[in-house]
Amino acid sequence: MEPVKVGLLGLGTVGGGTVNVLQRNGDEICRRAGRPIRVTRAATRTLDKQRICETAGIELTDDPWKVVDDPEIRIVCELIGGTEIARELVLRAIGNGKHVVTANKALIAIHGNEVFEAAQQQGVTVAFEAAVAGGIPIIKAIREGLAGNRIEWLAGIINGTGNFILTEMRDKGRGFGEVLAEAQELGYAEADPAFDIDGTDAAHKLTILASIAFGIPLQFDRVYREGIDRITIEDVRYAEQLGYRIKHLGIARRAEQGIELRVHPTLIPERRLIANVDGVMNAVLVRADAVGPTLYYGPGAGADPTASAVVADLVDVTRALTSDPENRVPHLAFQPGALADLPILEMPEVETAYYLRMSAEDRPGVLAEVTRIFGDLGISIEAIRQQEPAGEERYVPIIFLTHRVVEARMNEAIGRIEALPSISGRVTRIRMETLS
Ligand code: NDP
Ligand code: HSE
Repeated sequence: MEPVKVGLLGLGTVGGGTVNVLQRNGDEICRRAGRPIRVTRAATRTLDKQRICETAGIELTDDPWKVVDDPEIRIVCELIGGTEIARELVLRAIGNGKHVVTANKALIAIHGNEVFEAAQQQGVTVAFEAAVAGGIPIIKAIREGLAGNRIEWLAGIINGTGNFILTEMRDKGRGFGEVLAEAQELGYAEADPAFDIDGTDAAHKLTILASIAFGIPLQFDRVYREGIDRITIEDVRYAEQLGYRIKHLGIARRAEQGIELRVHPTLIPERRLIANVDGVMNAVLVRADAVGPTLYYGPGAGADPTASAVVADLVDVTRALTSDPENRVPHLAFQPGALADLPILEMPEVETAYYLRMSAEDRPGVLAEVTRIFGDLGISIEAIRQQEPAGEERYVPIIFLTHRVVEARMNEAIGRIEALPSISGRVTRIRMETLS
Protein backbone atom coordinates (compact mmCIF):
# COMPACT_ATOMS: atom_id res chain seq x y z
CA MET A 1 0.00 0.00 0.00
CA GLU A 2 0.96 3.64 -0.47
CA PRO A 3 2.95 4.98 2.50
CA VAL A 4 1.29 7.55 4.74
CA LYS A 5 3.31 10.74 4.48
CA VAL A 6 4.21 12.47 7.71
CA GLY A 7 5.63 15.97 8.16
CA LEU A 8 7.68 16.69 11.26
CA LEU A 9 7.82 20.07 12.95
CA GLY A 10 11.03 19.81 14.99
CA LEU A 11 13.90 17.37 14.75
CA GLY A 12 15.37 17.66 18.25
CA THR A 13 15.22 15.04 21.02
CA VAL A 14 11.68 13.82 20.28
CA GLY A 15 11.67 14.51 16.53
CA GLY A 16 15.03 12.77 16.07
CA GLY A 17 13.90 9.86 18.25
CA THR A 18 10.71 9.53 16.19
CA VAL A 19 12.68 9.27 12.94
CA ASN A 20 14.98 6.68 14.52
CA VAL A 21 12.13 4.50 15.79
CA LEU A 22 10.23 4.73 12.49
CA GLN A 23 13.37 3.71 10.59
CA ARG A 24 14.49 0.99 13.00
CA ASN A 25 11.08 -0.66 13.39
CA GLY A 26 9.63 0.23 9.99
CA ASP A 27 8.60 -3.31 9.08
CA GLU A 28 6.90 -4.07 12.39
CA ILE A 29 5.16 -0.69 12.32
CA CYS A 30 3.92 -1.32 8.77
CA ARG A 31 2.54 -4.74 9.79
CA ARG A 32 0.66 -3.05 12.61
CA ALA A 33 -0.56 0.06 10.78
CA GLY A 34 -1.41 -1.75 7.55
CA ARG A 35 0.84 0.51 5.46
CA PRO A 36 4.27 2.15 5.74
CA ILE A 37 4.59 5.42 7.66
CA ARG A 38 7.17 7.68 6.03
CA VAL A 39 8.55 11.06 7.14
CA THR A 40 8.90 13.08 3.96
CA ARG A 41 9.51 16.59 5.30
CA ALA A 42 10.87 18.05 8.51
CA ALA A 43 11.18 21.64 9.71
CA THR A 44 13.92 22.81 12.06
CA ARG A 45 15.24 26.20 13.13
CA THR A 46 18.72 25.58 11.79
CA LEU A 47 19.49 23.37 8.82
CA ASP A 48 23.17 22.61 9.36
CA LYS A 49 22.99 21.14 12.86
CA GLN A 50 24.17 17.65 13.79
CA ARG A 51 21.07 15.43 14.26
CA ILE A 52 20.57 12.29 16.35
CA CYS A 53 18.88 10.64 13.36
CA GLU A 54 19.56 9.86 9.71
CA THR A 55 17.93 12.55 7.56
CA ALA A 56 18.57 11.05 4.12
CA GLY A 57 15.25 10.91 2.24
CA ILE A 58 13.69 13.66 4.37
CA GLU A 59 13.34 17.10 2.82
CA LEU A 60 14.58 19.55 5.46
CA THR A 61 13.32 23.12 5.65
CA ASP A 62 13.59 26.01 8.04
CA ASP A 63 10.08 27.11 7.08
CA PRO A 64 7.55 25.10 9.13
CA TRP A 65 4.62 26.50 7.08
CA LYS A 66 5.87 24.49 4.12
CA VAL A 67 5.24 21.34 6.14
CA VAL A 68 1.73 22.20 7.29
CA ASP A 69 0.77 23.42 3.81
CA ASP A 70 2.23 20.43 1.94
CA PRO A 71 -0.79 18.76 0.22
CA GLU A 72 0.98 15.36 0.20
CA ILE A 73 1.31 15.22 3.98
CA ARG A 74 -1.54 13.50 5.82
CA ILE A 75 -0.19 13.70 9.38
CA VAL A 76 1.69 16.61 10.93
CA CYS A 77 3.80 15.80 13.98
CA GLU A 78 4.31 18.88 16.15
CA LEU A 79 7.53 18.42 18.12
CA ILE A 80 8.66 22.02 18.39
CA GLY A 81 7.22 22.85 21.82
CA GLY A 82 5.89 26.10 23.28
CA THR A 83 2.44 27.58 22.90
CA GLU A 84 2.74 30.32 20.30
CA ILE A 85 4.03 29.19 16.92
CA ALA A 86 3.09 25.60 17.81
CA ARG A 87 -0.55 26.66 18.28
CA GLU A 88 -0.62 28.54 14.96
CA LEU A 89 0.99 25.67 13.08
CA VAL A 90 -1.31 23.06 14.58
CA LEU A 91 -4.42 25.13 13.84
CA ARG A 92 -3.23 25.66 10.26
CA ALA A 93 -2.55 21.94 9.82
CA ILE A 94 -6.04 21.17 11.12
CA GLY A 95 -7.51 23.84 8.84
CA ASN A 96 -5.74 22.09 5.96
CA GLY A 97 -7.50 18.84 6.90
CA LYS A 98 -4.42 17.13 8.34
CA HIS A 99 -4.31 14.91 11.39
CA VAL A 100 -1.92 16.05 14.11
CA VAL A 101 0.26 14.16 16.57
CA THR A 102 1.92 16.22 19.27
CA ALA A 103 4.09 15.70 22.36
CA ASN A 104 3.38 19.25 23.50
CA LYS A 105 1.65 19.19 26.89
CA ALA A 106 1.78 22.99 27.27
CA LEU A 107 -0.10 23.38 23.99
CA ILE A 108 -2.76 20.81 24.93
CA ALA A 109 -3.17 22.03 28.53
CA ILE A 110 -3.51 25.70 27.55
CA HIS A 111 -5.03 25.65 24.06
CA GLY A 112 -6.42 22.11 23.92
CA ASN A 113 -10.10 23.12 24.14
CA GLU A 114 -9.66 25.37 21.09
CA VAL A 115 -7.51 22.84 19.21
CA PHE A 116 -9.94 19.94 19.76
CA GLU A 117 -12.93 22.04 18.74
CA ALA A 118 -11.16 22.97 15.50
CA ALA A 119 -10.21 19.32 14.93
CA GLN A 120 -13.77 18.17 15.52
CA GLN A 121 -15.12 20.68 13.01
CA GLN A 122 -12.61 19.46 10.41
CA GLY A 123 -13.16 15.77 11.23
CA VAL A 124 -9.46 15.22 12.01
CA THR A 125 -7.66 13.70 14.98
CA VAL A 126 -5.22 15.37 17.34
CA ALA A 127 -3.30 12.67 19.22
CA PHE A 128 -1.13 13.49 22.25
CA GLU A 129 0.00 10.28 23.98
CA ALA A 130 3.58 11.57 24.33
CA ALA A 131 2.41 14.70 26.13
CA VAL A 132 2.02 12.89 29.47
CA ALA A 133 4.54 10.62 31.17
CA GLY A 134 6.80 10.12 28.12
CA GLY A 135 6.74 6.50 27.00
CA ILE A 136 3.97 5.28 29.34
CA PRO A 137 0.75 4.78 27.34
CA ILE A 138 -1.25 6.47 30.09
CA ILE A 139 -3.60 8.43 27.83
CA LYS A 140 -4.70 5.24 26.06
CA ALA A 141 -4.98 3.38 29.36
CA ILE A 142 -7.29 5.96 30.93
CA ARG A 143 -9.20 6.93 27.80
CA GLU A 144 -9.80 3.41 26.52
CA GLY A 145 -8.66 0.77 29.01
CA LEU A 146 -10.55 2.27 31.94
CA ALA A 147 -13.58 3.44 29.94
CA GLY A 148 -15.95 1.31 32.03
CA ASN A 149 -14.88 2.88 35.32
CA ARG A 150 -15.70 5.89 37.40
CA ILE A 151 -12.27 7.25 38.20
CA GLU A 152 -11.97 8.41 41.80
CA TRP A 153 -8.46 9.81 41.89
CA LEU A 154 -5.08 9.60 40.28
CA ALA A 155 -1.64 10.52 41.56
CA GLY A 156 1.52 10.53 39.50
CA ILE A 157 5.19 11.27 39.30
CA ILE A 158 4.86 13.01 35.95
CA ASN A 159 8.05 14.99 35.52
CA GLY A 160 11.12 12.93 34.72
CA THR A 161 13.63 15.76 35.16
CA GLY A 162 12.34 16.61 38.64
CA ASN A 163 12.34 12.97 39.74
CA PHE A 164 15.84 12.50 38.32
CA ILE A 165 17.10 15.52 40.28
CA LEU A 166 15.46 14.45 43.55
CA THR A 167 16.78 10.89 43.22
CA GLU A 168 20.37 11.95 42.45
CA MET A 169 20.35 14.45 45.32
CA ARG A 170 18.97 11.86 47.77
CA ASP A 171 21.06 8.85 46.72
CA LYS A 172 24.33 10.45 45.71
CA GLY A 173 24.25 13.78 47.51
CA ARG A 174 24.76 15.62 44.18
CA GLY A 175 24.02 19.33 43.83
CA PHE A 176 20.80 20.59 42.24
CA GLY A 177 22.45 22.62 39.44
CA GLU A 178 24.82 19.83 38.42
CA VAL A 179 22.02 17.25 38.11
CA LEU A 180 19.79 19.67 36.20
CA ALA A 181 22.63 20.25 33.71
CA GLU A 182 22.88 16.49 33.21
CA ALA A 183 19.11 16.22 32.67
CA GLN A 184 19.41 18.91 29.98
CA GLU A 185 22.32 17.08 28.40
CA LEU A 186 20.26 13.87 28.29
CA GLY A 187 17.38 15.69 26.57
CA TYR A 188 14.95 15.28 29.50
CA ALA A 189 14.43 18.94 30.41
CA GLU A 190 12.06 21.45 28.84
CA ALA A 191 13.42 24.27 26.66
CA ASP A 192 12.82 26.43 29.74
CA PRO A 193 13.91 24.10 32.56
CA ALA A 194 12.12 26.32 35.09
CA PHE A 195 8.97 24.45 33.96
CA ASP A 196 10.46 21.20 35.27
CA ILE A 197 11.50 22.76 38.56
CA ASP A 198 8.54 24.97 39.49
CA GLY A 199 5.80 22.40 38.77
CA THR A 200 4.51 24.00 35.55
CA ASP A 201 5.28 20.96 33.37
CA ALA A 202 3.64 18.60 35.87
CA ALA A 203 0.64 20.96 36.04
CA HIS A 204 0.30 20.85 32.23
CA LYS A 205 0.25 17.05 32.39
CA LEU A 206 -2.13 16.91 35.34
CA THR A 207 -4.54 19.21 33.48
CA ILE A 208 -4.66 16.66 30.66
CA LEU A 209 -4.95 13.61 32.94
CA ALA A 210 -7.78 15.18 34.97
CA SER A 211 -9.69 16.07 31.85
CA ILE A 212 -9.65 12.56 30.41
CA ALA A 213 -10.21 10.96 33.83
CA PHE A 214 -13.23 13.02 34.89
CA GLY A 215 -14.59 14.31 31.58
CA ILE A 216 -14.00 17.98 32.40
CA PRO A 217 -12.65 20.74 30.15
CA LEU A 218 -8.90 21.44 30.23
CA GLN A 219 -8.33 24.01 33.00
CA PHE A 220 -4.62 24.61 33.48
CA ASP A 221 -5.20 27.89 35.36
CA ARG A 222 -7.00 26.04 38.15
CA VAL A 223 -4.13 23.71 39.05
CA TYR A 224 -2.41 24.50 42.36
CA ARG A 225 1.34 24.40 41.75
CA GLU A 226 4.45 23.98 43.88
CA GLY A 227 7.80 22.78 42.55
CA ILE A 228 10.75 20.83 43.84
CA ASP A 229 12.88 23.92 44.48
CA ARG A 230 11.96 24.20 48.15
CA ILE A 231 12.66 20.56 49.08
CA THR A 232 15.68 20.40 51.35
CA ILE A 233 17.90 17.39 51.93
CA GLU A 234 17.15 17.60 55.67
CA ASP A 235 13.40 17.17 55.01
CA VAL A 236 14.22 14.19 52.76
CA ARG A 237 16.23 12.62 55.62
CA TYR A 238 13.63 13.38 58.33
CA ALA A 239 10.89 11.93 56.12
CA GLU A 240 12.96 8.76 55.67
CA GLN A 241 13.40 8.40 59.44
CA LEU A 242 9.60 8.45 59.73
CA GLY A 243 9.14 5.84 56.98
CA TYR A 244 8.26 8.20 54.11
CA ARG A 245 9.70 9.33 50.77
CA ILE A 246 9.24 12.80 49.32
CA LYS A 247 8.05 12.73 45.72
CA HIS A 248 6.75 15.48 43.49
CA LEU A 249 3.21 14.36 42.70
CA GLY A 250 0.39 15.53 40.51
CA ILE A 251 -2.90 14.67 42.23
CA ALA A 252 -6.41 14.87 40.78
CA ARG A 253 -9.20 13.75 43.06
CA ARG A 254 -12.97 13.72 42.93
CA ALA A 255 -13.99 15.12 46.34
CA GLU A 256 -17.54 15.67 47.56
CA GLN A 257 -17.55 19.39 46.78
CA GLY A 258 -15.57 19.30 43.54
CA ILE A 259 -12.30 18.31 41.90
CA GLU A 260 -8.88 18.72 43.51
CA LEU A 261 -6.10 19.59 41.05
CA ARG A 262 -2.70 20.02 42.64
CA VAL A 263 1.00 19.41 42.05
CA HIS A 264 3.42 19.63 44.97
CA PRO A 265 6.08 17.72 46.88
CA THR A 266 4.34 14.98 48.85
CA LEU A 267 5.32 12.56 51.60
CA ILE A 268 4.25 9.02 50.75
CA PRO A 269 4.80 5.85 52.78
CA GLU A 270 8.01 4.22 51.56
CA ARG A 271 6.27 0.83 51.19
CA ARG A 272 4.12 2.14 48.32
CA LEU A 273 5.44 1.10 44.91
CA ILE A 274 5.22 4.66 43.65
CA ALA A 275 7.50 5.84 46.48
CA ASN A 276 10.24 3.72 44.89
CA VAL A 277 10.01 5.16 41.38
CA ASP A 278 13.40 6.78 40.85
CA GLY A 279 15.44 8.68 38.28
CA VAL A 280 13.74 9.69 35.04
CA MET A 281 11.05 7.04 35.54
CA ASN A 282 7.44 8.18 35.90
CA ALA A 283 4.47 6.38 37.41
CA VAL A 284 0.77 7.08 37.59
CA LEU A 285 -1.48 5.41 40.14
CA VAL A 286 -5.15 5.45 39.17
CA ARG A 287 -7.96 4.50 41.54
CA ALA A 288 -11.14 3.56 39.70
CA ASP A 289 -14.33 2.02 41.07
CA ALA A 290 -14.52 -1.21 39.07
CA VAL A 291 -10.88 -2.22 38.64
CA GLY A 292 -9.56 -0.70 41.88
CA PRO A 293 -6.00 0.64 41.86
CA THR A 294 -3.81 0.30 38.77
CA LEU A 295 -0.23 1.54 38.43
CA TYR A 296 1.50 2.55 35.20
CA TYR A 297 5.28 2.82 35.20
CA GLY A 298 7.96 3.68 32.64
CA PRO A 299 10.44 6.26 31.35
CA GLY A 300 9.02 9.76 31.57
CA ALA A 301 11.36 11.51 29.11
CA GLY A 302 14.11 10.96 26.54
CA ALA A 303 14.32 10.44 22.79
CA ASP A 304 13.35 6.79 22.24
CA PRO A 305 10.78 6.43 25.06
CA THR A 306 8.92 9.55 23.95
CA ALA A 307 9.20 8.49 20.30
CA SER A 308 7.54 5.22 21.32
CA ALA A 309 4.43 7.19 22.28
CA VAL A 310 4.58 9.46 19.21
CA VAL A 311 4.85 6.47 16.87
CA ALA A 312 1.98 4.68 18.65
CA ASP A 313 -0.16 7.73 17.87
CA LEU A 314 1.03 7.70 14.24
CA VAL A 315 -0.04 4.06 13.97
CA ASP A 316 -3.43 4.81 15.56
CA VAL A 317 -4.06 7.73 13.24
CA THR A 318 -2.96 5.73 10.20
CA ARG A 319 -5.36 2.90 11.10
CA ALA A 320 -8.20 5.39 11.52
CA LEU A 321 -7.59 7.32 8.29
CA THR A 322 -10.51 5.68 6.60
CA SER A 323 -12.90 5.60 9.59
CA ASP A 324 -15.78 8.02 10.17
CA PRO A 325 -14.78 10.88 12.52
CA GLU A 326 -17.83 10.04 14.73
CA ASN A 327 -16.51 6.52 15.28
CA ARG A 328 -13.10 7.59 16.56
CA VAL A 329 -12.15 7.69 20.24
CA PRO A 330 -13.05 11.20 21.50
CA HIS A 331 -10.03 13.43 22.12
CA LEU A 332 -10.77 13.90 25.81
CA ALA A 333 -12.23 10.39 26.36
CA PHE A 334 -15.80 11.68 26.81
CA GLN A 335 -17.99 12.83 23.91
CA PRO A 336 -17.38 16.56 23.31
CA GLY A 337 -20.98 17.46 24.24
CA ALA A 338 -20.79 15.38 27.43
CA LEU A 339 -18.03 17.20 29.30
CA ALA A 340 -19.08 18.05 32.89
CA ASP A 341 -18.76 21.47 34.45
CA LEU A 342 -17.59 20.20 37.85
CA PRO A 343 -16.21 22.86 40.22
CA ILE A 344 -12.45 22.87 40.83
CA LEU A 345 -11.65 23.30 44.52
CA GLU A 346 -9.50 26.16 45.78
CA MET A 347 -6.49 24.95 47.77
CA PRO A 348 -7.87 26.05 51.20
CA GLU A 349 -10.83 23.70 50.59
CA VAL A 350 -8.60 20.67 49.93
CA GLU A 351 -8.21 18.08 52.68
CA THR A 352 -4.89 16.33 53.21
CA ALA A 353 -2.42 15.28 55.92
CA TYR A 354 0.77 17.24 56.67
CA TYR A 355 4.44 17.03 57.56
CA LEU A 356 5.46 20.17 59.45
CA ARG A 357 8.97 21.13 60.46
CA MET A 358 9.64 24.01 62.79
CA SER A 359 12.59 25.37 64.68
CA ALA A 360 11.60 25.54 68.36
CA GLU A 361 13.31 26.85 71.46
CA ASP A 362 14.81 23.93 73.39
CA ARG A 363 13.00 24.41 76.74
CA PRO A 364 10.08 22.81 78.62
CA GLY A 365 6.56 23.88 77.62
CA VAL A 366 7.26 24.76 73.98
CA LEU A 367 5.83 21.53 72.62
CA ALA A 368 2.69 22.08 74.73
CA GLU A 369 2.21 25.57 73.21
CA VAL A 370 2.24 24.08 69.71
CA THR A 371 0.05 21.09 70.50
CA ARG A 372 -2.47 23.43 72.18
CA ILE A 373 -2.85 25.29 68.88
CA PHE A 374 -3.50 22.00 67.07
CA GLY A 375 -5.97 20.97 69.79
CA ASP A 376 -7.86 24.27 69.63
CA LEU A 377 -8.25 23.90 65.86
CA GLY A 378 -9.25 20.24 66.01
CA ILE A 379 -6.11 19.06 64.20
CA SER A 380 -5.11 15.58 65.27
CA ILE A 381 -1.42 14.66 65.49
CA GLU A 382 -0.12 11.34 64.14
CA ALA A 383 3.53 11.64 65.22
CA ILE A 384 5.96 14.08 66.84
CA ARG A 385 9.69 13.86 66.57
CA GLN A 386 12.22 16.17 68.17
CA GLN A 387 15.63 16.07 66.53
CA GLU A 388 18.81 16.21 68.56
CA PRO A 389 20.14 19.75 69.04
CA ALA A 390 23.37 20.34 67.16
CA GLY A 391 25.84 21.19 69.98
CA GLU A 392 24.77 24.16 72.09
CA GLU A 393 22.02 25.26 69.65
CA ARG A 394 19.16 27.15 71.33
CA TYR A 395 16.64 25.97 68.72
CA VAL A 396 15.93 22.39 67.67
CA PRO A 397 13.96 21.03 64.71
CA ILE A 398 10.61 19.48 65.65
CA ILE A 399 8.63 17.45 63.14
CA PHE A 400 4.86 16.90 63.34
CA LEU A 401 2.86 14.54 61.17
CA THR A 402 -0.85 15.34 61.28
CA HIS A 403 -3.99 13.52 60.24
CA ARG A 404 -6.10 14.89 57.40
CA VAL A 405 -7.51 18.37 57.82
CA VAL A 406 -8.74 21.05 55.42
CA GLU A 407 -5.92 23.30 54.27
CA ALA A 408 -7.66 26.48 55.50
CA ARG A 409 -7.47 25.18 59.07
CA MET A 410 -3.82 24.20 58.65
CA ASN A 411 -3.07 27.69 57.33
CA GLU A 412 -4.59 29.11 60.52
CA ALA A 413 -2.54 26.74 62.69
CA ILE A 414 0.70 27.57 60.90
CA GLY A 415 0.01 31.29 61.24
CA ARG A 416 -0.49 30.92 65.00
CA ILE A 417 2.59 28.69 65.42
CA GLU A 418 4.81 31.12 63.52
CA ALA A 419 3.59 33.91 65.83
CA LEU A 420 4.82 32.07 68.96
CA PRO A 421 7.96 33.72 70.45
CA SER A 422 9.39 30.23 71.05
CA ILE A 423 9.33 29.40 67.31
CA SER A 424 12.03 30.76 65.03
CA GLY A 425 11.36 31.46 61.34
CA ARG A 426 8.81 29.85 59.07
CA VAL A 427 7.17 26.46 59.43
CA THR A 428 8.02 24.08 56.55
CA ARG A 429 4.88 22.36 55.30
CA ILE A 430 4.86 19.32 53.00
CA ARG A 431 1.57 17.64 52.22
CA MET A 432 1.27 13.93 52.91
CA GLU A 433 -0.83 11.24 51.21
CA THR A 434 -1.20 7.56 52.06
CA LEU A 435 -2.44 6.72 48.52
CA SER A 436 -4.26 3.73 49.93
P1 NDP B 1 14.13 20.08 21.31
O1 NDP B 1 14.51 21.45 21.74
O2 NDP B 1 15.12 19.00 21.44
O3 NDP B 1 13.65 20.12 19.80
C1 NDP B 1 12.84 21.15 19.29
C2 NDP B 1 12.93 21.12 17.78
O4 NDP B 1 12.07 22.10 17.24
C3 NDP B 1 14.34 21.43 17.24
O5 NDP B 1 14.63 20.59 16.18
C4 NDP B 1 14.23 22.87 16.76
O6 NDP B 1 15.09 23.17 15.69
C5 NDP B 1 12.79 22.89 16.30
N1 NDP B 1 12.19 24.25 16.29
C6 NDP B 1 12.02 25.08 17.33
N2 NDP B 1 11.42 26.21 16.93
C7 NDP B 1 11.21 26.07 15.60
C8 NDP B 1 10.61 26.88 14.61
N3 NDP B 1 10.11 28.07 14.90
N4 NDP B 1 10.56 26.42 13.35
C9 NDP B 1 11.05 25.21 13.04
N5 NDP B 1 11.61 24.39 13.93
C10 NDP B 1 11.69 24.81 15.20
O7 NDP B 1 12.79 19.74 22.11
P2 NDP B 1 12.25 18.28 22.48
O8 NDP B 1 12.34 17.39 21.34
O9 NDP B 1 12.83 17.89 23.78
O10 NDP B 1 10.71 18.62 22.81
C11 NDP B 1 9.77 18.79 21.78
C12 NDP B 1 8.37 18.73 22.39
O11 NDP B 1 8.18 17.46 23.01
C13 NDP B 1 8.10 19.75 23.50
O12 NDP B 1 6.76 20.13 23.44
C14 NDP B 1 8.37 18.96 24.77
O13 NDP B 1 7.68 19.47 25.89
C15 NDP B 1 7.83 17.61 24.38
N6 NDP B 1 8.32 16.47 25.11
C16 NDP B 1 9.67 16.30 25.29
C17 NDP B 1 10.16 15.17 25.91
C18 NDP B 1 11.61 14.94 26.09
O14 NDP B 1 11.98 13.95 26.74
N7 NDP B 1 12.47 15.79 25.58
C19 NDP B 1 9.23 14.16 26.41
C20 NDP B 1 7.83 14.41 26.17
C21 NDP B 1 7.42 15.53 25.55
P3 NDP B 1 16.70 23.14 15.85
O15 NDP B 1 17.04 21.70 16.12
O16 NDP B 1 17.23 23.58 14.54
O17 NDP B 1 17.00 24.03 17.00
N1 HSE C 1 10.71 17.77 30.66
C1 HSE C 1 9.77 16.70 30.72
C2 HSE C 1 10.12 15.80 31.89
C3 HSE C 1 9.81 15.91 29.45
O1 HSE C 1 11.24 15.88 32.37
O2 HSE C 1 9.25 15.06 32.34
C4 HSE C 1 8.75 14.85 29.39
O3 HSE C 1 7.47 15.40 29.30
